[in-house]
Amino acid sequence: MPVAIITGASKGLGRALAEALAARGWDLVLDARNAGVLKETARALEAYGTRVTALPGDVTDTWHRTALVTEARALGGVDLLVSNASALGAEPLVRLEELPLDGLRRALEVNVVAALGLVREALPALRAAPAGTVVTVSSDAAAEAYETWGGYGASKAALDQLAAVLGAEEPGLRVWAVDPGDMATDLYAAAVPDDDGARPEPASVVPALLRLLDERPASGRYGAAALLEAR
Ligand SMILES: NC(=O)c1ccc[n+]([C@@H]2O[C@H](COP(=O)([O-])OP(=O)(O)OC[C@H]3O[C@@H](n4cnc5c(N)ncnc54)[C@H](OP(=O)(O)O)[C@@H]3O)[C@@H](O)[C@H]2O)c1
Repeated sequence: MPVAIITGASKGLGRALAEALAARGWDLVLDARNAGVLKETARALEAYGTRVTALPGDVTDTWHRTALVTEARALGGVDLLVSNASALGAEPLVRLEELPLDGLRRALEVNVVAALGLVREALPALRAAPAGTVVTVSSDAAAEAYETWGGYGASKAALDQLAAVLGAEEPGLRVWAVDPGDMATDLYAAAVPDDDGARPEPASVVPALLRLLDERPASGRYGAAALLEAR
């Protein structure tokens, strides 16, 4: 069975993707910082009959990243690496003039540095896999100038460029940066607590990711909305 590492998989989009992959028979290595929530998620996913390794930790921790890849190798390798865990830099979001520099550093550390660290750790296994794939979860804030989304958006823009160059450097892999669009999750609520508008559930975005896995288009940046529309 193929093996996926998904960071930030205890809830939101990461959990929804993990559930869809478990339903397809994938073995999973999942992380999140809150061990209790992650354990409950892993227990629920085990109902699909696949192997689920839940490893609590922070993606910015080098040892934790090594452990994620070690666990995946123990399950058979790394077919898919999804960098989904994310930091906003300020909760709620604030305008750039108020953005704490340590918040920006944290967003860059979680969203960019840790993502590259995990890719580097997993690259030998990804290259050895029959269809090695990297997904980095982006945001439209990486490309649009929304007030208050500057620090987070800058980190996601950096992540996009990292994914684009990785795709060019690793022609044997598929590397997709995916903008999921707005979703009703804890991250969005933390970003904009006063925004009570209705947003899609993260599970509604998962078919876009599954489409990429099924059709394996060229490495590049993809928007979930377009992938879902064309389906
Ligand atoms: N929601 C939206 O509207 C939206 C829009 C565009 C893009 N995105 C992107 O979609 C992705 C998923 O976000 P979401 O909305 O599904 O968020 P979410 O529901 O809040 O889930 C985030 C997950 O990441 C984990 N996490 C956060 N920081 C971590 C760290 N340093 N190390 C390990 N795990 C960590 C969280 O668990 P712990 O807190 O326990 O660590 C949780 O499992 C993110 O990349 C986000 O930027 C979201």
